[in-house]
Amino acid sequence: MSLTDSLGRKHDYLRISLTDRCNLRCLYCMPHNDMQFMPPSRLMSANEIQKLAEIFVEHGVRKIRLTGGEPLMRKDVGSILQNLSTLKVKLAITTNGYFLGQYFDTFEKVGLTSINLSLDTLRKDRFEVLSQRKGFDQTWQNIEEAIRRGFYVKLNMVVMKDRNEDEINNFVELTRHMPIHVRFIEFMPFAENRWDFSQTVSYAAILNRIEQTHSFARIEDAANDTARNFRVNNAPGTFAVISSVTNPFCDTCNRIRLTADGKIKNCLFAQNETDLLTILRNGGDVERLIKENIAAKHAARGGLPEFSADNAPKVFSKNRSMISIGG
Ligand code: GTP
Ligand code: 5AD
Ligand code: SF4
Repeated sequence: MSLTDSLGRKHDYLRISLTDRCNLRCLYCMPHNDMQFMPPSRLMSANEIQKLAEIFVEHGVRKIRLTGGEPLMRKDVGSILQNLSTLKVKLAITTNGYFLGQYFDTFEKVGLTSINLSLDTLRKDRFEVLSQRKGFDQTWQNIEEAIRRGFYVKLNMVVMKDRNEDEINNFVELTRHMPIHVRFIEFMPFAENRWDFSQTVSYAAILNRIEQTHSFARIEDAANDTARNFRVNNAPGTFAVISSVTNPFCDTCNRIRLTADGKIKNCLFAQNETDLLTILRNGGDVERLIKENIAAKHAARGGLPEFSADNAPKVFSKNRSMISIGG
């Protein structure tokens, strides 16, 4: 039985956030007010994650991505992965890469082959400004090691005007030498992230910059891909743009999210969340709640209006911050 919404979209991809904590403080992600982290008792335990994941898999989920905050800050991430690997799903993770070195063996053991890495600059000094923490060298070494070991590595770069826009072509250059898949992401508004339309660098502007330096071709996108993909002629890697702001891809959405405190969110921008964890703890009917939540999914952006310079700070700040959604 599948989790299909009223528009016929089949939901077979579950993103589970393991924690809202992170070792970095990226400017576009972390709220600029006082971030209150969730107390551990509110987080799903490894067993609870497994029980909920089993229900989703029974209803057609075929891919599970672990997210955060930073998922590798969870000490029990190894056992969580081990448990999930017993289900019939493709496993993936989105991480900032800082702790990755300790986990390659675990990933290989459980069959996790695909890693999405967030890295917004190739410059050490700038890394410290954008993430407000040190850690560039260790992160970069881990990225190289991931590639050496044969993992499929996507590199997410959130492009921000005047902050890292000038590095777009350096990231494209990486794809000419490494089998790496760079994705340029349009900066999106979330609670307290001081989003401003003028700071978003659009799909068109990103491609325009690349066109001035490289010859490249459009390549095929994977089913339900959020990115539009390209390859520089003969390059081992690829690059792509995720245009969530100027050209969203809601009509092919197949994603469901489970927050670290066990709430189902049927869209990145959904304002209604359904608390599965409390119901699971009380022995209630979790399946019914999941189905109702998916059936009520909005056509686009969680029912919110299009992004605009005037409405965003007010409208989008009602959502959670990105760090507690997990992307
Ligand atoms: P794969 O397609 O499995 O590689 O994963 P992904 O690209 O969805 O995962 P990742 O965690 O790397 O997310 C990268 C970015 O994609 C996020 O920062 C968002 O900008 C964007 N994104 C992911 N899911 C959604 C979504 O449902 N809606 C919107 N608007 N953007 C999304
Ligand atoms: N806009 C776009 N992408 C964002 N991410 C975090 N915050 C934002 C934002 N405001 C990205 C991170 C990470 C992914 C999960 O979400 O770069 O790669
Ligand atoms: Fe941490 Fe990722 Fe948010 Fe940066 S984007 S603060 S690495 S969760």
